[in-house]
Amino acid sequence: MLFTTAAARLTRATITRRGFTSTSALNGVPTVHYDHFASGWNENDEPYTEGKFHIETFNKISPLGLARFPPANYEIAEDYPKNNAHAILLRSHKLQESEVDISVRAIARCGAGTNNVPVARMTQLGIPVFNTPGANANAVKELVLCGLFLGSRRLVDGINHMKKLGEEGLQKERVEKDKAMFGGREIAGKTLAIIGMGHIGAATAREASALGMETVGYDPGLSIESALKLPRQIQIMDSISSAVAKADYISLNIPYIKGEGGTHGIIGKEVISHFKDDAVLLNFARGELVDSEAMKEFLDRGDGRYISDFPDDLLWDHKNSILLPHLGASTEEAEETAAAMAADTIQSYLEHGTVQNSVNFPAAALPERQKGSIRITVVNKNVPGMLATISDVFARHKINIQQQINCSRGDVAYNVIDIDPVVEGAEEINLKDLQKELTMHEGVLSSRLIFGMAGAGYARNIDASHEPP
Ligand SMILES: NC(=O)c1ccc[n+]([C@@H]2O[C@H](COP(=O)([O-])OP(=O)(O)OC[C@H]3O[C@@H](n4cnc5c(N)ncnc54)[C@H](O)[C@@H]3O)[C@@H](O)[C@H]2O)c1
Repeated sequence: MLFTTAAARLTRATITRRGFTSTSALNGVPTVHYDHFASGWNENDEPYTEGKFHIETFNKISPLGLARFPPANYEIAEDYPKNNAHAILLRSHKLQESEVDISVRAIARCGAGTNNVPVARMTQLGIPVFNTPGANANAVKELVLCGLFLGSRRLVDGINHMKKLGEEGLQKERVEKDKAMFGGREIAGKTLAIIGMGHIGAATAREASALGMETVGYDPGLSIESALKLPRQIQIMDSISSAVAKADYISLNIPYIKGEGGTHGIIGKEVISHFKDDAVLLNFARGELVDSEAMKEFLDRGDGRYISDFPDDLLWDHKNSILLPHLGASTEEAEETAAAMAADTIQSYLEHGTVQNSVNFPAAALPERQKGSIRITVVNKNVPGMLATISDVFARHKINIQQQINCSRGDVAYNVIDIDPVVEGAEEINLKDLQKELTMHEGVLSSRLIFGMAGAGYARNIDASHEPP
């Protein structure tokens, strides 16, 4: 329950409401009080239910994802009494600030977008918001592959024709004569241009290559992780125009970004002027990326095709377009993967202070802590001098920092600090006092002592001078 080295030096430990307190000192080794300071808590609100992390869910979250939380340390419920939830897991629920209890340390959305979460406000409060990038990439990639075939053969027209013949009782009589109307081409040996080679684009490139296609790609922000997944033969181009000029098929896999320098209508007249006459554009990214007028002109004049996962008021009934009702990520597996990823991300934040896949916090991970050390995390406003201030608190308490990381992103900074809680020569070490000093320092938003009992150890600086909502 305590730490090996500390425990060896401490004779007895009792569990208090708020954590651990050793009750006697031995051979000059100090007594270490592991109580937690809890700034701003209403003492009557029972902020800690001891022993488990409480995960509050909004929306129905895949049971396979929820099963990632070990029941020994986690409890999951749709509603907790006030100030009892430690983390929030949601899908599309539009989260209100009033639903984020003072006890909530983190929020995870099972999915890529986080516009249903008040992210800017959560940043002011020092609460990380996580998402699950790439969790639905396989689902979307499979539909892009389906789009390749939909764009190669007149499958939808053929299916509709068979229904009509069936209604008229003419299928057997007419099918061999009529099939000439629905001929197509094969994808093997053709060229696919991938615009945006992230999770979905890179996976699509790999599969298309395995199906015998040539691949070219354009992505000025290609990550190393994605680059490693690309097929070896892919040709990297230096502009969208040069990539599409070579292509029989074009797969668009980039984010939609509004405003100047964004991607609204990025596939417009100019880029389309480089398309081959019979090019097939696969848009499983966002409808707004394509200029509908320019695409209609292209479809009207040639044998080009537009296959999209999004509604379009101009193109929905064009003979050369096929629009799907945003089905890209709509698979059971994608929901499961997203829920599992969100659950893992929350756990590693709660148990280790690790930040990964956050949309408002910097990525941060310390190596495994040494036995007997205590991990403390501090969230503070990203203003000068905070790191020195935080280090100074430990120095004044004569506490040795074993390892430490400090990262910032925008207005927020995050520290993970491993300390040796035992100070030779000191009569008594009180981590509660230490946490109080850390937390109530101007500019600090919250702190956590990560050890021992799940659900304990969090303190917020409630009087921090953040803007009211
Ligand atoms: N149809 C669906 O249901 C569905 C589901 C999930 C995602 N999506 C869409 O797919 C997009 C891609 O998803 P992902 O998971 O692969 O994202 P990702 O972030 O992993 O990859 C996006 C890639 O696009 C690149 N990029 C950005 N702007 C670019 C530009 N102007 N030109 C070329 N490359 C550019 C980035 O550098 C990045 O590598 C998402 O932004 C989303 O809009 C659709």
